Amino acid sequence: VDDGVRTFHLSAQEGMTRFPGASAPTETWGFNGAFLGPTLRAQRGEKVAIEIDNELPEPTSVHWHGMHLPAAMDGGPHQMIDAGEHWRPTWIIDQPAATLWYHPHPHGETEAHVYRGLAGMFILDDDASVAADLPHEYGIDDLPMIVQDRSFNRDGEFELQHDGAEPGMLGDTVMVNGTVGAVQQVTTERVRLRLLNGSTARTYTFAFPDRPMTMIAGDGGFLDAPLTLDELRLAPGERAEVVVDFAAGETVRMRSLKTDLGGIAVPGTTGANDAFDVVEFRVADELVPSPEPSWSPAAEADADALHEEDATVTRAFELEGREINGERMDMSRIDEIAYVGDTEVWEVTSTQPIPHSFHVHDVQFRILSIGGQAPPPELAGPKDTVYLMPNVQYRLLLRFEDYADPTMPYMYHCHMLRHEDEGMMGQFVVI
Ligand code: C2O
Ligand code: CU
Ligand code: CU
Repeated sequence: VDDGVRTFHLSAQEGMTRFPGASAPTETWGFNGAFLGPTLRAQRGEKVAIEIDNELPEPTSVHWHGMHLPAAMDGGPHQMIDAGEHWRPTWIIDQPAATLWYHPHPHGETEAHVYRGLAGMFILDDDASVAADLPHEYGIDDLPMIVQDRSFNRDGEFELQHDGAEPGMLGDTVMVNGTVGAVQQVTTERVRLRLLNGSTARTYTFAFPDRPMTMIAGDGGFLDAPLTLDELRLAPGERAEVVVDFAAGETVRMRSLKTDLGGIAVPGTTGANDAFDVVEFRVADELVPSPEPSWSPAAEADADALHEEDATVTRAFELEGREINGERMDMSRIDEIAYVGDTEVWEVTSTQPIPHSFHVHDVQFRILSIGGQAPPPELAGPKDTVYLMPNVQYRLLLRFEDYADPTMPYMYHCHMLRHEDEGMMGQFVVI
């Protein structure tokens, strides 16, 4: 912390990484290292600044996914950092404790930049998360888990095919925090997993073979109460925090199960229905006791809450082909104008038998209904990204709190990154 500003340094750079199973070291990109990036962490109310150096041979950007912040600090396609250049966004953390993440957002190149390895977690704390009875020793019983898939070519390089498969390239190798065949030692009775689907196209359904998980938080923060789940689906860009109980001396694997994507009817689709191991937990013979998960609402919870009766604007978004409402992304076109202070309902539908993962910058929304029904409890907390089953309308409630800027848009888009790069994105300004 310098002068009351919590300052981080990120240097986007080229590197080489050795992955088991690849025939040779792989050319990768990372922040402050060869692959992925450090976990950033800040508390509600703090001012943060990120000093970013782009040491890559091409322009990129760094976007703070899930963060409420001014559009000029958002790191979207309008905040490009040229090769060799520097960018220093700064803002005040003003939202609940949550597991967010950061990744590049160059228009048309996001999939390639994320696939090469540019991504990291951004954890936010607040009074409620600090006081909560939850595992919180980072790296011991509070574990970041960036889950991604990759394929390798015969030379050991990452392979990113553009063969038209939907919903994009699915890799045959799963990695957690950049590790293939990940193994985690467990020394406590309970462990908190901060799960991030950082994949470009693959949707996972996480599950343990013999025990439930206790979900405590979704994309944008805590649920109202702990939720017992046997399986948890996460689409690209989504996060969840779960607490898992372990028994002394056991070894257990978390898996991804077959995922019902809602009927992809596009030829050439591969791998969407695989089931595979994600990570193996090896549990010590003596375990440190962990509390039963519980927390109280944050001091700001009432102010943060969204109320449907406050909504004054309804907008409809239809996702089809690579278009939203019949248009592909155009950097020079503003698609929607919202007013500071307004609460809105967004009605979002994928009108083809292709799933999407719909994401809105700047806000955390609440899902009012899915196909006219109340959302399942795992989707009831604050969200910024939601899996869209085909031909089902999702009604989202959101509010544009502050940060008016008529000159700089935020994005909304599909987080299946091929779709985004090919144009399934739009721009809104808040004025
Ligand atoms: Cu995670 Cu617009 O992105
Ligand atoms: Cu985002
Ligand atoms: Cu999509």
